[in-house]
Amino acid sequence: MASTRDWFETVAEARRRARRRLPRPVFMALEAGAEAGVTRADNVAAFGEIRFAPPRLADLPAKRDLRTSVLGADLDLPVIASPVGAQAVHPLGEVAVAMGTRDAGTALGLSEFASRAAAEVAAVNPKLFFQVHWSADRAVLLERAENARAGGATALIVTLDWSFPGGRDWGSPAIPERLDLKTLVRLAPAGLARPAYLAGWLRRGGLPDLTVPNMARPGRPAPGFFDAYRSWTAVPPPTWADIAWLRARWGGPFLVKGVMRADDARRAVDAGATAISVSNHGGNNLDGTPAAVRALPAVAAAVSGSAEILLDGGIRRGGDVVKALALGARAVMIGRPCLWGLAAGGPSGVRNVFDIFRTGIDSALLALGRPSVRDLVPSDVILPADFARGLAE
Ligand SMILES: Cc1cc2nc3c(=O)[nH]c(=O)nc-3n(C[C@H](O)[C@H](O)[C@H](O)COP(=O)(O)O)c2cc1C
Repeated sequence: MASTRDWFETVAEARRRARRRLPRPVFMALEAGAEAGVTRADNVAAFGEIRFAPPRLADLPAKRDLRTSVLGADLDLPVIASPVGAQAVHPLGEVAVAMGTRDAGTALGLSEFASRAAAEVAAVNPKLFFQVHWSADRAVLLERAENARAGGATALIVTLDWSFPGGRDWGSPAIPERLDLKTLVRLAPAGLARPAYLAGWLRRGGLPDLTVPNMARPGRPAPGFFDAYRSWTAVPPPTWADIAWLRARWGGPFLVKGVMRADDARRAVDAGATAISVSNHGGNNLDGTPAAVRALPAVAAAVSGSAEILLDGGIRRGGDVVKALALGARAVMIGRPCLWGLAAGGPSGVRNVFDIFRTGIDSALLALGRPSVRDLVPSDVILPADFARGLAE
């Protein structure tokens, strides 16, 4: 646990600390959504439109129960670290997230674009869900998933929501292809303005190597992040038959991430998904897509009972988690809040973020008179008339 001095009380404070600590290009790589950032902003704003309907004086136990299970993993709270590529915000990267989530009693998603191998991360937190995009052909994807399973991953996530948006109106982060001398000279002013960040890396023996070990083919070195990204852009999107194929070959718990429509949720269930995540990639893809939580009621109405429903995008406090659960989610995933905690305080910063969620969820349960996260129902919240923004049932 972080010392009292380092402890922060809100996710907003974790973000402020991350901004102070990280070189600007690194902070902006986390922060900016695609293009104008409309979807990224709406993900957060939509939670502000949802209101609670708290009754007075319910019959409650002294201690509320936050436990649940997702993809076969028992969790102490219904919040999971979402898969996020190349976590160069801290030298320990995904290993630090594994430490923080393990200490918080929850699971983490590990992106195929992660900077640490699945085996190394699963050794720290065995509640590990490995995530792929449709970034290669069937055989290579399956090989990648099987390698992660051999490393200890217990579930597979396939992320469907992506396009390849170009610039960001806020300024695209200048992420280097490789850290050669020329690049280091170019980045020196941003790095030197954040000496604590630089010192953290140098203490651990060097700068990020920008390779993606979970995408290595047998007997070959791990590709570089940008080479892997470029080859992904050349792969055609999958069909539902591809998803059903991968699901059948994988066999274990299987999450389809990136569903925004009720009809697609039904297709994912038909393809054999054990879980779906209502998600728009944190606003990092097709800008103009509504907030993920706006799609949740329709998706829950379509597939509740047939698959576990998760939600990610814009969750910044325990109350947001409770709103999502009331609207039909079993648990949520957090992207940026976890990275901000990581940047602010390493493993204990991650743990700190999850503890903020734990406290906030418990407080909202108390106010709503619900003994457990599994007791939340849609009437615990109030939605404005146009909340779904026309997303069809
Ligand atoms: C910097 C960054 C990198 C991401 N990389 C991935 C990825 O590799 N795979 C994936 O499925 N989602 C990725 N995501 C999306 C997150 O898993 C998640 O859907 C999103 O961050 C949730 O929104 P939030 O940041 O508002 O919590 C990324 C998000 C960010 C901010």
